[in-house]
Amino acid sequence: MDTQIKKKIFDLKQKKNAIILAHYYVDGEIQDIADYVGDSLELARKASVTDADIIVFAGVHFMAETAKIISPNKKVLIPDIKSGCPLADSMSGAGLKKMKEQYPDHVIVNYVNSTAEIKAMSDLICTSSNAVDMVKSFDPGTKILFGPDKNLGAFVKSFVNNEMVIWDGNCPVHENFSAEKLKALKLKFPEAVVLAHPEANKPVLLLADLIGSTSKIIKYAVESDKKQFIIATEPGVIHTLKKQTSEKEFIPLPPVQNLDKSICFNMKKHTVEKVLQALENEQFEIFMDSELIKKAALPIKRMLDMSIKLGLIK
Ligand code: 13P
Ligand code: SF4
Repeated sequence: MDTQIKKKIFDLKQKKNAIILAHYYVDGEIQDIADYVGDSLELARKASVTDADIIVFAGVHFMAETAKIISPNKKVLIPDIKSGCPLADSMSGAGLKKMKEQYPDHVIVNYVNSTAEIKAMSDLICTSSNAVDMVKSFDPGTKILFGPDKNLGAFVKSFVNNEMVIWDGNCPVHENFSAEKLKALKLKFPEAVVLAHPEANKPVLLLADLIGSTSKIIKYAVESDKKQFIIATEPGVIHTLKKQTSEKEFIPLPPVQNLDKSICFNMKKHTVEKVLQALENEQFEIFMDSELIKKAALPIKRMLDMSIKLGLIK
């Protein structure tokens, strides 16, 4: 990395009391200059407790939006404003309203990969690391509308007896993994441990040794005494994995079609140069209606409070 850019970023962070939060799927160079790298839940928590005045959020739009909702008095910047999430965009407010009209006695639990409008309509938000616990917080007789990820929804359903109606959305990156490719890799690397994200489809998850959020995948591999791992999530996590455990081998699961399909291009839109521009020009700022912030904050704060109580985050 250009050391001049790195120094400028460091100086601007000091001068403006800013921090950089980054998700594991962004480019390794950004992970290296970030103050904190984490999964969605950890990043939301970090945004809620930081005393920085500016948060530069290197992640997709819904993540930066979530930071703004929890910390409305802070300036939240996203280095590339076009960094969206097709999964989050797959659920419209009108669509959820229609679903709720069909199932009026169901509570609404939505994945954090959703727009602020959807969050404002939800009773509770969850992330990949706490989805099962969040749904389990309701008694088994409570009926649940869950969205927008159908794979995460089906994964949660396998742990609970609640009746669940699940939105038909998916992440194009994780949906592109196949059990056939995974079986072939397992034959080639019979000793390898399979670590998968719950956004992957059921046939892939059935072959996994561990299913968890990006942070859980990293923690498991780092602490394990095994040496070889097949990674069934976006390969950005391998950057941190290699930094934390240089002696282990990580094999990315190839997608059904070409290799590019396993990359989250939206996360990769951020670059170190754009992070510098974000700090220099205070762009691109996340602006939100204050009423929307108030409504969307409730189910997110509920999730954070429960996650702290359950010891899932500090
Ligand atoms: P994590 O919360 O596991 O980091 O996942 C975020 C995400 O967008 C996965 O595709
Ligand atoms: Fe969205 Fe999928 Fe990218 Fe995660 S990997 S941010 S769900 S498109």
